Amino acid sequence: MGIVMVGATMSLDGFIAGPNDAMDWVFAYPGDPHAPNTIDEYIIQSTGAVLTGRRCYDVGQQAARPELSGLYGGRWVGPEFVLTHRPPAGESSSRTTFLSGDIQRAVATALEAANGKNLLVLGGNVVGQCLDAGLVDEALIHLAPVLLGEGVRMFSQSGQRHITLETVSATQVGQLTDLRFRVIK
Ligand SMILES: NC(=O)c1ccc[n+]([C@@H]2O[C@H](COP(=O)([O-])OP(=O)(O)OC[C@H]3O[C@@H](n4cnc5c(N)ncnc54)[C@H](OP(=O)(O)O)[C@@H]3O)[C@@H](O)[C@H]2O)c1
Repeated sequence: MGIVMVGATMSLDGFIAGPNDAMDWVFAYPGDPHAPNTIDEYIIQSTGAVLTGRRCYDVGQQAARPELSGLYGGRWVGPEFVLTHRPPAGESSSRTTFLSGDIQRAVATALEAANGKNLLVLGGNVVGQCLDAGLVDEALIHLAPVLLGEGVRMFSQSGQRHITLETVSATQVGQLTDLRFRVIK
């Protein structure tokens, strides 16, 4: 069975999107194409399924830049699960499943679809629910040297639970710092 990872490119002040879901800032940090073992590569190889929230899905669907419409610029392909209270009519595909309700059940369903690989969870709201429910094993953060000031926060959407993590690795990739943490349970 794979593990549950939360992941994001995050600004130094803790945002995963700027005002109005702005994501252009992410493309200022393309990473080092010659660095083979970045977290980016780790995620693409180890991820068997992705669980996101409806807002992630909508931003991806509306993206003007093609790099934003597919996960990791289209380099990762696999089953995607989207939590929503209002599944869009006629938009399901063989790869996208819309779910609703209990976060524990959603994670179990997506983890099973990962077929022994890891489940990657994206989107501040859904990440917060997973952390609150004690479902997260690891966090993988590409830390970007930028202060966005406002937008969508990665972690403040979780509750008041005190969560301790241990650092697994910290790697410099161009201007980004790739941080990998394990949640102490
Ligand atoms: N920097 C990065 O690496 C990165 C990665 C991913 C996303 N992002 C950005 O993050 C933003 C999205 O994050 P977010 O925190 O705003 O939202 P989110 O987690 O993507 O989605 C939250 C929405 O999902 C639905 N939902 C959540 N839990 C549910 C449940 N248990 N049952 C049913 N529906 C549920 C609800 O929508 P409804 O009730 O409306 O259905 C909720 O409003 C976007 O701007 C995206 O571009 C950035």
